[in-house]
Amino acid sequence: MVPLQILQKIVRNYCMINSMIFFTLSCTSQRVRVMESKLDRSRDSFIAKGTKGMIAAAHPLASKAGLRALKMGGNAIDAMVAASFVVSVVRPQSTGIGGGGFMLYYNHSKRKTEVYDFRERAPLAASKDMYLDPQSKEVLDFEYKGTKIPKASLNGHLSVAVPGLVAGLLDAHDAYGILPLKELMIDAINIAKNGFKVYPSLSRAIKFRAKILQHFEGSRSLFMPKGKALEAGDILVQSDLAQTLNLIAQHGKDGFYKGEVAKKIIEEMKHGGIISQKDLDSYQVKKRKPLVGTYRNHRIVSMPPPSSGGAHIIQILNILSHDNMAQWQHDDPRRLHLLAEAMRRSYADRAKYLGDPDFVEVPIHGLTSLQYATKLRKTINSQKASSSKDISHGNPLPFESNSTTHISVVDQWGNAVSTTQTINFAFGSGVIARGTGIVLNDEMDDFSIKTGSPNAFGLVGGKANAVAAKKTMLSSMSPTLVFDHLGKLKLILGSPGGSRIITATLQTILNTIDHKMPLKDAVHSFRIHNQWLPDEIRIERNGLLPKTKLTLESMGHQIKSYSFNIGDVQAIAKENNQWVGVSDTRSDGVPMGY
Ligand code: DON
Repeated sequence: MVPLQILQKIVRNYCMINSMIFFTLSCTSQRVRVMESKLDRSRDSFIAKGTKGMIAAAHPLASKAGLRALKMGGNAIDAMVAASFVVSVVRPQSTGIGGGGFMLYYNHSKRKTEVYDFRERAPLAASKDMYLDPQSKEVLDFEYKGTKIPKASLNGHLSVAVPGLVAGLLDAHDAYGILPLKELMIDAINIAKNGFKVYPSLSRAIKFRAKILQHFEGSRSLFMPKGKALEAGDILVQSDLAQTLNLIAQHGKDGFYKGEVAKKIIEEMKHGGIISQKDLDSYQVKKRKPLVGTYRNHRIVSMPPPSSGGAHIIQILNILSHDNMAQWQHDDPRRLHLLAEAMRRSYADRAKYLGDPDFVEVPIHGLTSLQYATKLRKTINSQKASSSKDISHGNPLPFESNSTTHISVVDQWGNAVSTTQTINFAFGSGVIARGTGIVLNDEMDDFSIKTGSPNAFGLVGGKANAVAAKKTMLSSMSPTLVFDHLGKLKLILGSPGGSRIITATLQTILNTIDHKMPLKDAVHSFRIHNQWLPDEIRIERNGLLPKTKLTLESMGHQIKSYSFNIGDVQAIAKENNQWVGVSDTRSDGVPMGY
């Protein structure tokens, strides 16, 4: 071992013991402060290389299923479908067939990116004030069997929106898949039927949501058998889910939206939910046009509304394009100040303007125009923080980055998929539709249920994102592709993390383009987050050098260290003529290539 590696090992062990998770690497001319894994595995397991195909997903079994599809001659869509069904089984806290998502598909032969929106939609019976007490206008609790459970938009049957994941995966597969659906679903079905080993973060997620899960029979018996949360090492068998997946493999979308499974979902909804068979019958995937921006000769292709992700990644990049960001070290306070100020302005616009474009006018051209960014840049004082204090906000719930998932794939033909999928908060609504194994989402909480009232991620909104029947709730999910100055695909990426999805994705792009970091450092580097409200720069577990923190504070920033991660990026980049896959050290993912 060379001395640097020995040093890193010592620091890493020290860091693990002390749960301090940063160390500094010197990489070309950049000083890179790198997030170290909380997990007991080497940094090498977070990176893979290959010349033909690559997948980065949030669980090794999901990447394995995707890689199997690629090696069998399947394309990026096949691999994504195989990996997504597996991730639904092994990360029930994050995503599942009771949820929805967004996908960017880059069709290499046509040099064209297509966008699939298979996010959940508000049920037909949904309405603007459905989560407010008619008299007090306070946010309602959910009542289940005589017990009051807090926040009806987040917990329990009324928080469930019409799921879109199965329709999204199957529409994409119908359009582009090469391998038969049944073949692609085998791994997911077998893992559900035979079980898999519960891993530490799944057990933690169950404990985190135990108070909610315990109310609902389906979730309780699966995740808290004998009244106690499953522990790491226990085997989680999901026989009902295996049966549901079997029906989908046999009957396609009808296996979910009609027949036995649909009937059981509607039956479950009788306990306080409002989804009807008509909602399931009328669910449709929407094809949309990608949002395209430019940053220092790179083309940034990302998710349009009803996501806010693409809009604000492009907006922030536009603001930052006025400065030479590469002149500073990655953790220079002047750089972090500008970054935080650009984020703050962007999230303020998010709260005001963003919503479902099929229902409200979103000024997307303005938000992503360079002229507007020039105007915003002029409002930033390079020496001094601005303030968000004139707008009030509530307390964001404590949260961990344990829900939502991202999958990046590239195949031997150069087609690529970037998809983020979710059931929203950990274990969604907490409700399993009994007899189906389906964990139902709580995506309704992503609507602005009351002007100025924060959602689970502390995000506020108003009219543009108010609840309405059939409307899609605003999202931060930001599946993104970056092309170089020659138009060649350079980067495929995205992340979970609620409001932090945008900033995690953004900073990985900045690290790659401005600081020319290899992907592994671009992903692992520490991140900051400012979402306008609350008025603070969030950092991950004291990840800033004390002197940098002091300088930012002297400029007027409030720095707050949280125990949660800013994102869990799954990314693929072209480096030295090969594909490099990187899963964030912050979580459980593993990339696999060949
Ligand atoms: O669509 C959104 O923006 C949220 N429902 C995503 C939730 C999420 O990332 C949870 N992960 N921490």
